[in-house]
Amino acid sequence: MTKFIIKGGNKLNGKVKISGAKNSALKIMAAAIMAGGRTILKNVPVIDDVLTMAEVLNQLGAEVDFDTSHNILEINPDNIKSFEAPYELVRKMRASILVAGPLLSRFGEVKVAIPGGCNIGSRQIDLHLKGFELMGAENVIEHGYVYSKAVSGAAKGAKRKLKGAEINLEFPSRGATENIMMAACLSSGKTIINNAAKEPEINDLANFLNKCGAKISGIGTDSIVIEGVDELAGCQYEIMSDSIEAGTFIIASALCGKKVEIAGAVWENMGIFCQKLKDIGVNIENKENSTIIIKKSKGILKPAYISTLPYPGFPTDLQPIATVLLCTIPGISIVTENVFENRFMYVDELNRMGANIKIDGHHAVITGVNKLSGAPVSATDLRAGAALILAGLIADGTTEVYEINHVLRGYENFDKKLRNLGADIIKVS
Ligand code: UD1
Repeated sequence: MTKFIIKGGNKLNGKVKISGAKNSALKIMAAAIMAGGRTILKNVPVIDDVLTMAEVLNQLGAEVDFDTSHNILEINPDNIKSFEAPYELVRKMRASILVAGPLLSRFGEVKVAIPGGCNIGSRQIDLHLKGFELMGAENVIEHGYVYSKAVSGAAKGAKRKLKGAEINLEFPSRGATENIMMAACLSSGKTIINNAAKEPEINDLANFLNKCGAKISGIGTDSIVIEGVDELAGCQYEIMSDSIEAGTFIIASALCGKKVEIAGAVWENMGIFCQKLKDIGVNIENKENSTIIIKKSKGILKPAYISTLPYPGFPTDLQPIATVLLCTIPGISIVTENVFENRFMYVDELNRMGANIKIDGHHAVITGVNKLSGAPVSATDLRAGAALILAGLIADGTTEVYEINHVLRGYENFDKKLRNLGADIIKVS
């Protein structure tokens, strides 16, 4: 069984370069379905989720060519003939459902497996479907699939299948914002998404679509406006860097770094997270909004109260990772999870390493301990896996992290990057 073996105690030092953002690359790959001709994407991370999305596009009939040594991915969607995202791929990667908006927009129909729950919560898609419905689609749910078809949009045979609509999201869901924004691109008329999610990755997706010829405004605000157009054309685009990977290396450096330079860490995309670390006493510095430098802290770190919220709030994806930092800070810290209902599965594993964390509903109460001790542990999801690896870096002795397929879904060369900074970590099969 593939696992990471980490010997704790080494100090991190040097420079690490952050890869392209997973949560931007996956959506932009899906969006390329609508853009005629070739799309060339640069800075695409070589991670399992990107390979799965490439498989989804392949199955639809698109040509996908991934030059993994240069992180360049080319997509040509001109020969797409299938409109279905099958269960085996949606099960493997929930983000597969992001092909729904583009397929519905371009062809007027799509069939996707309903994702169901996962290890961090139930993860509905009702907001996506409500948006499609308001744009003239009918959604039929049967046999574990949702079949959406444009029925009351433009005239039969017309180029534009859906019609624009005003959509008020009950919650600023990222996935729903992205799917609806993409669906609106080739619709007739204007779509307004109110209470839209504002994550920088959504801006990246909108900027890509505009480069292909879409007309999206209000980017980065909670009211996104899309004027439908007749067609989009493929383009060249560079994926933004990954702020969750950056946050992971920032916490790793705060835990055991001497001086670590994190290139591609954009402060303005992670303002509240960086401010929180400053409040805790981490020696963190912004260099030209493109690099973050972490130096060894001068004093004792302070406990904190962290509460996750949609952007620009504290990111839920960094919640398990930040919890590791709080584990060994003297005093009591409290972490509140507001985005997913089940995102504390990793806590039992951290407690097996000597942490003292108690869960009460959606709050984790963390009493700082002197040290963690290495143990065999299992990753319950992607970010939980990263958290356990970071715990292993500061634990006494050896930590073995199992179920690392989760980690390989979202971090490019994680072990190699940590090794280059001085960590003792190997991947064994
Ligand atoms: C994305 C990210 C994920 C991140 C999350 C929150 C990707 C591939 N994944 O997931 O890493 O943790 O944003 O920042 O980009 N919800 C509904 N109905 C819906 C849609 C969502 O109730 O139709 C709920 C979900 O169950 C969840 C919350 O809204 O509790 C947030 O979901 P959402 O923002 O949609 O997250 P994802 O796009 O799935």
